Amino acid sequence: MPRLIAHATGAALGLLILSGCTLACRSQEATTRLTFSGSALGPEADVVQRQLARFAERHPEVRVELQVTPDSADQRHQLFVQWLNAHAPTPDVLQLDVIWIAEFAAAGWILPLDGFEPGIDDFLPASVATARWRGALYAIPWFVDVGMLYWRTDLLDRAPRSLIELRQDALRVREAKSARLGLVWQGARYEGLVTVSLEHPGAFGGGILDDRGRVIVDDPAAIRALTFMANAVNVDRVVPSSALTWQEEQVRFAFQNGEAAFMRNWPYAWALLQDESRSRVARRFAVAPFPAGEGGQPAAALGGAQLAINARSAHPMLSSELVAFLTAPDQMLERARLTAQLPPRRSLYDNTELVAALPMPLEQVRPILEAAVPRPATPVYSELSEVLQVWLHRALTGQQPPAVALQQAAREMRALLVRAGLSTEGPTR
Ligand code: GLC
Repeated sequence: MPRLIAHATGAALGLLILSGCTLACRSQEATTRLTFSGSALGPEADVVQRQLARFAERHPEVRVELQVTPDSADQRHQLFVQWLNAHAPTPDVLQLDVIWIAEFAAAGWILPLDGFEPGIDDFLPASVATARWRGALYAIPWFVDVGMLYWRTDLLDRAPRSLIELRQDALRVREAKSARLGLVWQGARYEGLVTVSLEHPGAFGGGILDDRGRVIVDDPAAIRALTFMANAVNVDRVVPSSALTWQEEQVRFAFQNGEAAFMRNWPYAWALLQDESRSRVARRFAVAPFPAGEGGQPAAALGGAQLAINARSAHPMLSSELVAFLTAPDQMLERARLTAQLPPRRSLYDNTELVAALPMPLEQVRPILEAAVPRPATPVYSELSEVLQVWLHRALTGQQPPAVALQQAAREMRALLVRAGLSTEGPTR
């Protein structure tokens, strides 16, 4: 595995140009081309362009191009896998979902960053844990995502304290016709569904893999959780069946148009929902942890993005400087202000600047952060997730009873782990 230092080229630092950006482009003068690939959901594009422009001012001989990726986590993953598997030297710096680090590190596609300056002591341990593979650090946390329950303060007096209350409130609001829909979440067959369904088993005391890496998606707690979700769609109809085709943005639109009492989504939605020119619910909502069911605890899927460096990059040192710049406190505060995405630096949470910058009240966010639950860190996470997505979706669309779907998912997931040499467990327990 190449070390960052061994890759040092002493590349000239220089002029940055954002492709398609509003910067004065100085491409003829640029001597080095650096490519950054990241997402541009909502105001993210604006923030990243501003920050790359500021980096440009410091390095006037480098040209940096922004390669925007698709919104869907799974499509982004596919694209990165194609590029890196083909040993493409670009993008130099990659915005990775927390769940891909183990896979990309194990494949040798991203550089170990243990010598990273200025260090990672300030970062939240849960985020740093997702950036490590076999003890080594492979990425620097950029922003933290946690699944949040958005609720309408004009329709309800308080956030539900249990899943039973959530269901009752959703039914009541819908019956009173104060909102057409009770609860909306990401139900399409993609990674977002796995995060929603992580919060439900969490709420009942279940999960995906246990501490020893054994598959537990067919445990009674997980079956109860999926039964709750399927009933919400097919029996109570508090969740519309159209949500089974929705990703983050369609869910946000439904809530933003005032159609739903509750929404499960990430922090980025807050900033957009408060925009009075587009949102019918501005100043009429708050966030809370997704509440506990019987036998569990409030659970918030831990997501977010980290920055990693392509192992084939021709400019590892310069890439490392860009990563250090983008993950510095000032840039994180600006991101928090413009996108409501949470910084992974601990020191910022004791800082009044974050309270001023973050569009949402920090006291509403803290209990959600405390309820954060990571997804398993394994190089075959994407394959495991794909199996789970298929069976979760079959149960939610009423094609299979939840217990049968999860038993089948568990069998396939166990077989996959055995094939990958990561487990010796048989198909059933
Ligand atoms: C968000 C999260 C990410 C998650 C994805 C699922 O982007 O940050 O961790 O995998 O949503 O849709």
